[in-house]
Amino acid sequence: MRIVLLGAPGSGKGTQSKFITEKYKIPQISTGDILRAHIKLKNKIGKKIYNILKNGELVSDNIVCNLIYERIKQKDCSQGFLLDGFPRTIQQAEYISNLDIKINFVFEFIVPDALILQRISGRRIHIQSGRTYHIYFNPPKQEGKDDITKETLIIREDDKIESIQNRLENYKKNNHILNKYYLKEEQLKKLKFFKIDGIKKPDIIKKEIQKIIESNFCVLQDSNL
Ligand code: AP5
Repeated sequence: MRIVLLGAPGSGKGTQSKFITEKYKIPQISTGDILRAHIKLKNKIGKKIYNILKNGELVSDNIVCNLIYERIKQKDCSQGFLLDGFPRTIQQAEYISNLDIKINFVFEFIVPDALILQRISGRRIHIQSGRTYHIYFNPPKQEGKDDITKETLIIREDDKIESIQNRLENYKKNNHILNKYYLKEEQLKKLKFFKIDGIKKPDIIKKEIQKIIESNFCVLQDSNL
């Protein structure tokens, strides 16, 4: 099963990724997490990536596609994977398609801008695992601590208002082209594309996605997609 999650920053991609990958036992491939891991290395490329992320800009297609290529050729991806935050440009979508990798499901989370700002400003993350919380909407059991390891939660560097605005603009600039691309792929019956109302509670969205996957996956397998 190969799944792509599209959506604005803060629309819930990371939150739902955790559920989908645990439920269907496929790895989550988050380009944001991969890039942040490079930043931690503090090498030349890490420093370059740090500045791009901090300003809410997109990392070049070349860098991101190479990182994805390296990741999906690993053994744990042989039975499928979930792409969280990739593709973000039409070039990235075409790159995946040119590798002859067939995507089964594309989910796009739709959330209004005002709610996105609320969500991102209250987000807290556990940097080691990528687990995400929200101070009001999805609080950890103990304030400021990860539920599992009890380590301290942090605020992401690019969750500041100036970066968020850039991230939103970049999303809007690219998303309508990606949308057209995936709608066309769906018309050609190459994949299933669903728009999800991302305003609903995480648990409701989770059930909705599960229902969609389970009622469509056999059909996709039968049609050899
Ligand atoms: P990335 O890390 O992917 O960030 P993003 O796309 O901006 O998305 P976010 O992680 O901010 O949000 P999310 O949709 O995962 O929401 P979440 O579930 O956390 O990328 C970071 C940067 O890396 C990019 O800006 C870019 O520079 C670069 N990059 C990455 N991929 C790239 C690519 N392919 N090409 C080029 N550059 C790339 O939820 C947000 C908050 O809301 C949380 O607090 C959560 O608890 C809460 N929440 C979630 N769902 C709900 C709900 N249903 N109801 C209430 N609260 C909710």
